[in-house]
Amino acid sequence: YPQLFIFDLDGVITDTAEQHYIAWKEMAQEIGIEIDRKFNESLKGVSRGDSLEKILNLNKDLHLSEEEKAELMKKKNDAYRKLIMSIEPEDIYPGIGELLEKLKDDDIKIALGSASKNAPFIIKQLQIEHYFDYVVDPETVENGKPAPDIFQKAADELGVAYDKCVGIEDAIAGVTAINEAGMLSIGVGDKIHLKHADYVVEDTAELKFETIINRFENISK
Ligand code: BG6
Ligand code: MG
Repeated sequence: YPQLFIFDLDGVITDTAEQHYIAWKEMAQEIGIEIDRKFNESLKGVSRGDSLEKILNLNKDLHLSEEEKAELMKKKNDAYRKLIMSIEPEDIYPGIGELLEKLKDDDIKIALGSASKNAPFIIKQLQIEHYFDYVVDPETVENGKPAPDIFQKAADELGVAYDKCVGIEDAIAGVTAINEAGMLSIGVGDKIHLKHADYVVEDTAELKFETIINRFENISK
């Protein structure tokens, strides 16, 4: 039986994956780089700095100083913050509130495993802060997703063995991180993009507590 569920935030609990995309696209355009949704799949789950590097890699002729990079990251984050300013409880994806309630009822621990430094602000705005037994601060782990560090940090802090954990992710890098951590991976989104997940749902409304427990009991990794 699982003892800990670790949720990604952007694109799992709420639609902020979209606002990240809009902000990156805008920033990239300013330096003459076009990004599309397909490329964006490779940015999902990836830290701010690593995302910028991936974007800059699209134009090998650009050589920016550390200050210029910091400036671009600030620009992106300012634009992103503007977009999420008025986020509210109604923006929580379908099924998420019910799942959090069920987990609490069943005494299963809950953690947030987001790569985003904006995560504490968002869960506060969504008024779901109180559900989380632990929120990973991405600045305290050595490697970002697709490395397993963020997920393992949550389990370590709460004293739960990795094989008793379930991770929920919308990102290719995030599912890889969960798998590398030795946890059960649940993908939310496209079945082809997320084919490396142990179980995929297309929509958060399909994240049913009983089904997940069933999968957990039946999938031997
Ligand atoms: C992840 C998002 O959750 O957080 C990425 O999927 C984002 O798109 C990353 O780049 C870092 O977020 P932030 O808010 O710290 O720039
Ligand atoms: Mg995500």
